[in-house]
Amino acid sequence: MENRDSSVQEDDGKGIRMRLRNIPGSEEALEKSAYVIDEPFEMRGNWKKVFGNDHPVRIEIGMGKGRFIIEMAKQHADVNFIGIEMYSSVLVRAVQKLNDGRHVWEDSFEGEEELEIPNLRLLRLDAKDLEQTFAPGEVERIYLNFSDPWPKDRHAKRRLPGREFLGIYDKVLAPEGRIEFKTDNRSLFDFAVEELAPAGWKADVITYDLHADAALMEGNVMTEYEEKFSAKGNPICKYIIHR
Ligand SMILES: C[S@@+](CC[C@H](N)C(=O)[O-])C[C@H]1O[C@@H](n2cnc3c(N)ncnc32)[C@H](O)[C@@H]1O
Repeated sequence: MENRDSSVQEDDGKGIRMRLRNIPGSEEALEKSAYVIDEPFEMRGNWKKVFGNDHPVRIEIGMGKGRFIIEMAKQHADVNFIGIEMYSSVLVRAVQKLNDGRHVWEDSFEGEEELEIPNLRLLRLDAKDLEQTFAPGEVERIYLNFSDPWPKDRHAKRRLPGREFLGIYDKVLAPEGRIEFKTDNRSLFDFAVEELAPAGWKADVITYDLHADAALMEGNVMTEYEEKFSAKGNPICKYIIHR
């Protein structure tokens, strides 16, 4: 597996340079984990075979430490979930969660856990490569949760709800497919809403205070960022969109 963490200085999307910790043993842990698909391009068009059923496939792009996708998979056994994260050092935290919280550097970490959640897989992948990973229409729903805001204009193309990425999602999403996006970052959300019409998308739902909307909160699974920022009193914005 290619190591994307070799450059330890990364922009965190807020314009802040942060150090991505290179976690010793993380590559090996990912390779060993039964949840992590090492060669995702080879599964293109064959995800039903990977899961061994015809259930719809939903993906989260930028899953971080994986709380949302793991919980969604536990709650919806009749849906297949794929969590996507571009950094090994972050993805390994999700693997650690699935490994009963054991750290990769602990002797007790085996990384060869059984698939206790059979409808879950994880990919170390850049969203730019979605078309190489999924055939047209193979994805039923895309979740974007607290995507990095990339506030500088020159980085706008890196924003996951931006029109370039909407063009990529269009290629892999089923005709009736939906994208769900949550964030507490109002500027990013305003940008995301402005991107919809030019890219040919329409909103089913737009809210600027998700947690105040009882109907939308039904079945809402909080992400790590959602818990952190809503606890600080930040309202959470959400849209659900289709073409
Ligand atoms: C701010 S975190 C949010 C994590 C999680 N979704 C949450 O809500 O707690 C954004 C995550 O998206 C990942 N990410 C950013 N751009 C990505 C891309 N192009 N492809 C895959 N993951 C990406 C980052 O590495 C980071 O882990």
